[in-house]
Amino acid sequence: MSYLGLDLGTSSLKALLIGEHDEVLGEASAPLEVAHPKAGWSEQDPMSWISACEAVMAELARTAPAALAGLKAIGLSGHMHGAVLLDGADRVLRPCMLWNDTRSAREAGEMDAEPLFRQVSGNIVFPGFTAPKVEWVRRHEPEVFAKLAKVLLPKDFLRLWLTGEHVSDMSDAAGTTWLDVGKRAWSGEALERCGLDLGQMPALVEGTGISGQLRPALAAGWGVRSSVDVVGGGGDNAAAAVGTGCVGEGDAFVSLGTSGVLLAARDGYAPDPETAVHTFCHALPGQWYQMGVILAATDCLNWLAARVGQSAESLSRDLPEVAEGPSEITFLPYLSGERTPHNDAKIRAALIGMDVGHTTGDLTRAVMEGVAFALADSLSALRSTGARVDRVIGVGGGTASPFWVSTLANILGVPVDLPDGSQMGAALGAARLARGGGFEKPAVAGSVEPEARFARAYEEAQARYRALYPALKDMG
Ligand code: XUL
Repeated sequence: MSYLGLDLGTSSLKALLIGEHDEVLGEASAPLEVAHPKAGWSEQDPMSWISACEAVMAELARTAPAALAGLKAIGLSGHMHGAVLLDGADRVLRPCMLWNDTRSAREAGEMDAEPLFRQVSGNIVFPGFTAPKVEWVRRHEPEVFAKLAKVLLPKDFLRLWLTGEHVSDMSDAAGTTWLDVGKRAWSGEALERCGLDLGQMPALVEGTGISGQLRPALAAGWGVRSSVDVVGGGGDNAAAAVGTGCVGEGDAFVSLGTSGVLLAARDGYAPDPETAVHTFCHALPGQWYQMGVILAATDCLNWLAARVGQSAESLSRDLPEVAEGPSEITFLPYLSGERTPHNDAKIRAALIGMDVGHTTGDLTRAVMEGVAFALADSLSALRSTGARVDRVIGVGGGTASPFWVSTLANILGVPVDLPDGSQMGAALGAARLARGGGFEKPAVAGSVEPEARFARAYEEAQARYRALYPALKDMG
């Protein structure tokens, strides 16, 4: 038997086919585009996700036909918080505003000032979340809002195409602001305040629950059996947590992807919105997780690479393997504003302390370090909610850089474990959810320990870093 994880990432759709013991039976990916029509806007065309899905499935049918023929179930994972707005005939009404779209900062601030939303959702109403985006549409595109029959999260639009069903899972629904995250049910009251009702929401299942069956026409085209279940799956962070075995108290991962995440699994529901930590349902029944989210991680390195006309890989390659103390330049990684710990959509990035002698390599170091300092802020916030984080599993594209990982270990002050195949975290989690079991931690290829001899220097550098946000904020 085989199980398929489909992970709708921001920059690509990944498909991962696994067996009973996580053995990889097939892989494929297709790139996706993000449009930024105005500053702070970030959009994708939902139909492009379907084309990408057709492409990855065609590739799997070509490269792994035997494994695909044994497909039993599909799990979905995807970038969270996006608003896919559909009319009564399931037609897409406008481009999907993504998780890093901050145009609804004003709507989010107003909603956040109403106690109801934090009480129900356990979270700040961040501008990137779904509800303020739909509120923005209500105010700015009333003709679209008038036709709105269903709001789906990004991966659930793929599900609609795969199964014909309108369904989401608890972990993704938790990022909308409309879910009562403690009770794991839509809040009629929160929806009503937004001019919406339950009929406009998808049905809910847990991550391992069955949401529908693959449509026979698709099954026939891909050469799979006619009764393939599609399970709930999870938002990308919950799915990555399942993929890295972060399923109970004490399990944590750090992700250096487009955005950066420090996530701790929780056995209970302990929201603390004041810290700007996110508290969401896990993709596993009866579990939750908390995380700090920074809006730009590898995005910062990509930005620098584009500015200096090199690739991110070549910038990384030019650095030593191990970090030997903090750099002289301080970088604040707020290229797209920040969530944890500042909840500030307006703040922007800064490079402080540049000297005429500094090189591109010095800038690269500073950028990686700034991202690590931002994640250390998330670690402090997480610990203040009671989460236990003694070591972390490192995932995401940025962990391919040994220098970045050693910087992260030094600045977080905890060991970073690097699993094999770390790039596949969320797709693996989605496939595991389809399998319904086997959620252990993957084999560790290596662990990077913090170096005690640099601890003091990094602490001082961190204090300099922390002092800069209030100063910059006041200037804005
Ligand atoms: C989480 C968040 C991002 C997206 C994109 O709150 O906004 O991690 O899920 O990956």
